[in-house]
Amino acid sequence: MTGAVCPGSFDPVTNGHLDVITRAAAQFDEIVVTVMINKSKRGLFTVDERIEMIAEATAHLDNVRISSWYGLLVDYAKEQGYTAIVKGLRGANDFDYELQMAQMNQKLSGVDTLFIPANPTYSFLSSSLVKEVATFGGDVADMVPEHVHTRLLARIAERAAE
Ligand code: PNS
Repeated sequence: MTGAVCPGSFDPVTNGHLDVITRAAAQFDEIVVTVMINKSKRGLFTVDERIEMIAEATAHLDNVRISSWYGLLVDYAKEQGYTAIVKGLRGANDFDYELQMAQMNQKLSGVDTLFIPANPTYSFLSSSLVKEVATFGGDVADMVPEHVHTRLLARIAERAAE
């Protein structure tokens, strides 16, 4: 049985993430999408909300499950018995950062990272940019699933009223 961890912040999940998750799910028997908890960063969505949105967006993929983890990613991978991490690569900036993390993770644990080149349709997408654009009224409707878009606009409106 082959399995891999697909980690990230997913605040919120975008169509770019979903493209990578879908393609990873075609290569492994099981993919666990893991929301990594960062206690020093207040997200737009809670970890539970992020998990709900990923679960809804991947409900049609039988071999994808969702989890969260606080701590080193490789500790989670080892605990779960996974020997691979899967990441999407959008471009050179991602590569520099991801290569360093992949090498550190390999050194720490022997867990290897496999990269999936982003679909060019989505290579400009990031959760941060989607949030920024949506906050200032830009149209991000085709960058995230419909249910994420609805929740995103609602949360931005709530935050603006705070
Ligand atoms: O979606 P992101 O924010 O680009 O994901 C980055 C993430 C969360 C996957 C990365 O920061 C991570 O793996 N954090 C967990 C803590 C850890 O293992 N750090 C050492 C990395 S070498």
